[in-house]
Amino acid sequence: MAATQFSSESTRPEQRLREAGRDAGLFVRQALRTFRATGAILPSGSSLATTLCRFLDERHPPDAPLSILEAGAGTGAVSRVIAAHMRKDDTVDFVESNPEFAGRLAELLETDPELSRVADQATVHAELVTELGTDRRYDVIISGLPFSNFTAAEVREILEYYSTVLRPGGHLSLFGYLYTKPVKAVVAPREKYLRQVRANWVLEEWVNSYGIDTERVLANVPPAWVYHLRQPERG
Ligand SMILES: C[S@@+](CC[C@H](N)C(=O)[O-])C[C@H]1O[C@@H](n2cnc3c(N)ncnc32)[C@H](O)[C@@H]1O
Repeated sequence: MAATQFSSESTRPEQRLREAGRDAGLFVRQALRTFRATGAILPSGSSLATTLCRFLDERHPPDAPLSILEAGAGTGAVSRVIAAHMRKDDTVDFVESNPEFAGRLAELLETDPELSRVADQATVHAELVTELGTDRRYDVIISGLPFSNFTAAEVREILEYYSTVLRPGGHLSLFGYLYTKPVKAVVAPREKYLRQVRANWVLEEWVNSYGIDTERVLANVPPAWVYHLRQPERG
């Protein structure tokens, strides 16, 4: 459907650049308005997005369709890479709590060359990820949520939600920025610094129990780390 909306005109490099600039502008405005929830000043770069999507290439058996959740999809920087990995029977839920971003994502599913390819397999949910409901099941969860801005209780609630909806053997990949703790130790009020320390403890607890790999992505602004976790097989 959406693919027919593209003329060679609309996919020209300058058009793509204009769209990327528009999304970066939207991101900066939302970050200034609500930094705690947005958690970044710019959308993720392609190296970070690719690292987060690592487990979209692991299928058991190799032709098994994947059910994918992206939490905190923003303006679609990671969603595009997810779309590029998707096969015809895969499905994806893009969840985004900021209505401005969710609206833009819905528009991109119609107009963006990469995202429109999976428009019929994708759903945009404009809500908190924990509001999605526990009757869903996913093979891969990619989390873009800014855990370092959340309280320990919020981090725990979200990780427990992921654990509920992630299938046995499924993968969760999430990211954070390098050096936020030492920077906050110097520039942030003590209470904010302590909040991040406590939130980190919760995350570390989960990573120590279920983590299978950690990757550093230096080619991102700011540099980031990615944790990959695996849901234990039950029984
Ligand atoms: C660091 S940005 C990442 C955006 C995008 N994935 C990227 O990598 O460029 C975090 C995003 O998570 C969204 N967000 C924050 N808390 C959320 C929640 N509880 N549920 C869903 N989305 C949330 C924010 O609005 C923001 O768009």
